[in-house]
Amino acid sequence: MRRALQQTMERENPALWPMTEERTLALPEFFANCVQDPDVRVLVASTEGKIVATITGRVGQGRDVAAFGLVDDAWVDPEHRGRGLCRLLLSTLIEFFRERDLSKLQLGYIHGGEAGAVWQRLGFSPVVVTANAALTALVACAGRVE
Ligand SMILES: CC(C)(COP(=O)(O)OP(=O)(O)OC[C@H]1O[C@@H](n2cnc3c(N)ncnc32)[C@H](O)[C@@H]1OP(=O)(O)O)[C@@H](O)C(=O)NCCC(=O)NCCS
Repeated sequence: MRRALQQTMERENPALWPMTEERTLALPEFFANCVQDPDVRVLVASTEGKIVATITGRVGQGRDVAAFGLVDDAWVDPEHRGRGLCRLLLSTLIEFFRERDLSKLQLGYIHGGEAGAVWQRLGFSPVVVTANAALTALVACAGRVE
């Protein structure tokens, strides 16, 4: 599901940097560690024995702000979308964050992608924009300054 999410995000915005092969190969180990980490909660929803949706929550540490709940890696299989699964998983995750006394949540989503409307519908407001550039573009820019 994490790989499918990555492919979706790269398709929605080609400026997103691709996941490295090394990281892709390490995903099973990464999630195995997440499941055992008390600061992380990986939730899945299944139907007829098949996992169709997932979401991950973790205790986020900011440099300048108090700890917060970080929501990550939300995915619902296309044929199960629009039925409230994301809302349900998020509400379950909120219980985990409450147990940890975290009162603020954060997540990121692709600029121009479909998820933004979902998260805003669920109560999130966009705050910081992450901007990517190729070095060649920046060199051209610096060339003009010199
Ligand atoms: C984003 C995603 C997880 C949402 O899952 P979902 O189960 O379809 O969402 P829900 O059915 O719980 O919908 C939550 C709310 O968003 C709304 N919503 C759902 N899809 C929407 C869309 N495409 N556009 C606008 N609103 C939408 C729903 O109406 C619902 O609001 P409501 O309960 O007030 O009616 C799912 O679309 C997905 O996996 N997308 C591809 C991967 C992705 O982009 N993940 C997010 C990474 S940040």
